[in-house]
Amino acid sequence: MPNTRALHKRPHPQHVAIIMDGNGRWAQRRGLPRLAGHAKGVERLRGVLRACPDLGVTHLTLYAFSTENWKRSTDEVSGLMRLFRRYIKKESARLARDGVRVRFIGNRHRLDDDLQKMMGWLEQLTAENTALNVTVAIDYGGRDEILRAVRRAAAAGVDPDTLDEAGLSAYMDTAGLPDPDLVLRTSGEVRVSNFLLWQAAYAEYDFLDICWPDFTAEVLADCVARFSARERRFGAATA
Ligand code: FPP
Repeated sequence: MPNTRALHKRPHPQHVAIIMDGNGRWAQRRGLPRLAGHAKGVERLRGVLRACPDLGVTHLTLYAFSTENWKRSTDEVSGLMRLFRRYIKKESARLARDGVRVRFIGNRHRLDDDLQKMMGWLEQLTAENTALNVTVAIDYGGRDEILRAVRRAAAAGVDPDTLDEAGLSAYMDTAGLPDPDLVLRTSGEVRVSNFLLWQAAYAEYDFLDICWPDFTAEVLADCVARFSARERRFGAATA
């Protein structure tokens, strides 16, 4: 007999996390500079965020800049930072009005001071919002996050013998947020790339052949529908 209590068919994923990959390839295929792909990628966010509440998605986590992305050219890194600044300036009023709460995870202190301030300001501005929780991972790496969490727990004097999974989760950047149900990656690459390593332990993955600048609300709806057709077992036996 299967452990039916461990069988969950979820009507929809409440927390979707996205590795927004393929901006560079999208641009190069069109003879455009890589940054044009990133800019198009940023443009896609508005429609995706708008679609989430109707799809029952309450949490959306976006991988915007990894700890490894610092190795890209100075031009590309500064271009991405410019896009982050522009996004906050341009979209903050709309996000606040639409009830979106924005949080940032990652190292943060390695970013320019002015950008850090803008991020903190947007977090405060939207702190009371509840329609959609958006978490943006910037200078984020899953291993780095786990390491920082362990260091924080040690610095707080936590006894390693009593530390359990929930205890360590409380020291992660994502403390208080639910784990992702569904992780999407665009661009055809089938890799996890250091994204939410701790939190995505039981997530479903969906790898899409399109590049991120081609991702639309309709694509998200398809991914949600595919997820709903899957049965999640959380380690239980097959029926
Ligand atoms: C990966 O494509 C994408 C990135 C490194 C950046 C993603 C960032 C955005 C879409 C901007 C997000 C902005 C906000 C405000 C959340 P790639 O350059 O690795 O593509 P490639 O693999 O084709 O080269």
